[in-house]
Amino acid sequence: MKKYYLTTPIYYPSDNLHIGHTYCTVAADSIKKYKELQGYDVFFTTGADEHGQKIEEKAKEAGVSPKEYVDHIVKGIEELWKKMDIRYDAFERSTDPKHEKAVQEIFQKLYNKGEIYKSQYEGYYCTPCESFWTEAQLKEGHKCPDCGRETHLSKEESYFFRLSKYRDKLLDLYEKNPGFLEPLSRKNEMINNFLKEGLEDLSVTRSTFDWGVKVPFDPKHVIYVWVDALSCYLTAIGYGSDEEKFNSYWPANVHLVGKEIVRFHAIIWPALLMALDIKLPEKIFGHGWILFDNDKMSKSKGNVVYPEPIIKLYGVDALKYYLLREFSFGSDGSFTKENLMQRLNSDLANDLGNLLSRTVSMIEKYRDGQLPQAGEKEDVDTNLIDLATTTSQKVDEAMDNFEFSVALEEIWKLIRKCNKYIDETSPWILAKDESKKERLDTVLYNLSESLRIVSILCYPFITETSKKIRESLSIEEEPLWENASSWGLIKAGEKVKNLGPIFPRLDIKAEIENLNNENQAFADYRAAEKAKWQKNDKSEEKEDESNLCTIEDFKKLEIKTALIESAEDHPNADKLYVLKVKVGDEERTVCAGIKKEYKKEDLIGKKVLILANLKPAKLRGIESQGMILAAEDKEGKISITTTLEDIADGATIR
Ligand code: ME8
Ligand code: MG
Repeated sequence: MKKYYLTTPIYYPSDNLHIGHTYCTVAADSIKKYKELQGYDVFFTTGADEHGQKIEEKAKEAGVSPKEYVDHIVKGIEELWKKMDIRYDAFERSTDPKHEKAVQEIFQKLYNKGEIYKSQYEGYYCTPCESFWTEAQLKEGHKCPDCGRETHLSKEESYFFRLSKYRDKLLDLYEKNPGFLEPLSRKNEMINNFLKEGLEDLSVTRSTFDWGVKVPFDPKHVIYVWVDALSCYLTAIGYGSDEEKFNSYWPANVHLVGKEIVRFHAIIWPALLMALDIKLPEKIFGHGWILFDNDKMSKSKGNVVYPEPIIKLYGVDALKYYLLREFSFGSDGSFTKENLMQRLNSDLANDLGNLLSRTVSMIEKYRDGQLPQAGEKEDVDTNLIDLATTTSQKVDEAMDNFEFSVALEEIWKLIRKCNKYIDETSPWILAKDESKKERLDTVLYNLSESLRIVSILCYPFITETSKKIRESLSIEEEPLWENASSWGLIKAGEKVKNLGPIFPRLDIKAEIENLNNENQAFADYRAAEKAKWQKNDKSEEKEDESNLCTIEDFKKLEIKTALIESAEDHPNADKLYVLKVKVGDEERTVCAGIKKEYKKEDLIGKKVLILANLKPAKLRGIESQGMILAAEDKEGKISITTTLEDIADGATIR
């Protein structure tokens, strides 16, 4: 079987993925299903990018270990993909021990080949973006050019990858292989903004944080997130663990990536692969952003729309259809709730939903629910049949270019044509005339057969809907792409099933409010969940702190035996004595609040315990250099330790 390997990026663990995040995954999933219909053995990798300083910090904030933190978040991401019927084959986690081991091997190999060397890195570091910038790249006020936040000057020892030596090879690749990076605009950007100027060697390790894959021969360094993350595309299909599987899927047919990470995929990634003598992927496709009020959707900007409320209100196919149909994959597009509602109404409820319910209702009404046999064809039929049997070719062309929107538009041309066919043939008039019985049979058959084809064509995009169409028409076999260009496959005599309207018509104004409310409710619910989760862990941690101390904690305390040589009243405090104590070779002054319990003369000559490394503090004008340890019971009775006669002063308590 022919193999097809496709990937989305591996996502940074973020507690609430927004609809922008789902865009690429929905697109990749449609390719997976489309190629499978065509008989390919498809492997689809997505995953989570779990290392780095940002995660380390977030985990700390949450009061949990980085691993606990990512485990929790990744569980949520996997649940969302499941809810959305995203059929990935590997969810590759960069913290997977198999992956980590392979990344170390990759690093070692590059080092052995002289592709990586040790040097000094100096630059402006943006912690949230985990990126170093040169001064020239920064925005005014030393702000990060990506996110606009504060950066700080940072200098560290680092390993470098010899990226500079790949400049000419990359230019050559782009020239000889025009399809390597698409769309064209992204390729021009890479050539003009990065390759033309020449490339600098790339810092590929960090020593300022810990949460990452350690450099095998220098563990104070962790392998910087991009080498680690990109390698997921290899390890997900068995690199370093299952060579046979790896060789059967690699090179990737396509890496789908958002436009802001094209640079990493189209420059660093091929250079790394060249250095490793691994074949290059066939294509990188850099898709656009979904914008909200012309801004990139992001939690920090407070303009986020979540997938869950849309799914809850309108179903998973509504979200997928909207994402793939409304936006052109290579370009940015603006999300608006009005557009969403309009699409759902016009395309899903009116065009497709109506076509199905009209067809099934007419078969029920006129033919007792049984699919009739077709008779003689007329021109109007041939027209429909021609379009129905050639649409799959047009979808193919569009899919070859990752034009999901065009593919869906071609399918909808057929759907609209079917609706027009109903108007043109007027079955309700045919039904009144017994002599038109065969004609009505033909019309109903042609509509059902067109819907069968539609169900195959739309399967990769709106799978649930495709299944509903097939269920309505009692089609039992699995969809196959080649059956979308044949005519006459649906079986006469089968009973149809009326599922009612599969997409309800929406009152747009009311629904916008409805969605706003659901979106807010979802955000609140998630925030509350998060607070609960993090508070729980924090309170546990506090308990830990108050009850238990580690041996390291204990070792910090210097408790020693001390001999009381003299005792005086404190001149300014009536509860305190000022004691002179001998601690081995040292003389110390210690203030102690034991006047009520002990007479001065009873103290002299006693051996007691003192905390010798307590930070000296002035008590009412006299510096106390340590603290006498004493027991205090519930009634407030105090007693000093006095059973130390047999040991010298200055001895250490352990
Ligand atoms: O970049 N519209 O992860 P990430 C469209 N871990 N796409 C969007 C979007 C929006 N509004 N917001 C985010 C990373 N995305 C790295 C990848 S790969 C080896 C490592 C897309 O979680 C974004 O463009 O920040 C990217 O492709 C994907 O979500 C994951 O982004
Ligand atoms: Mg990002």
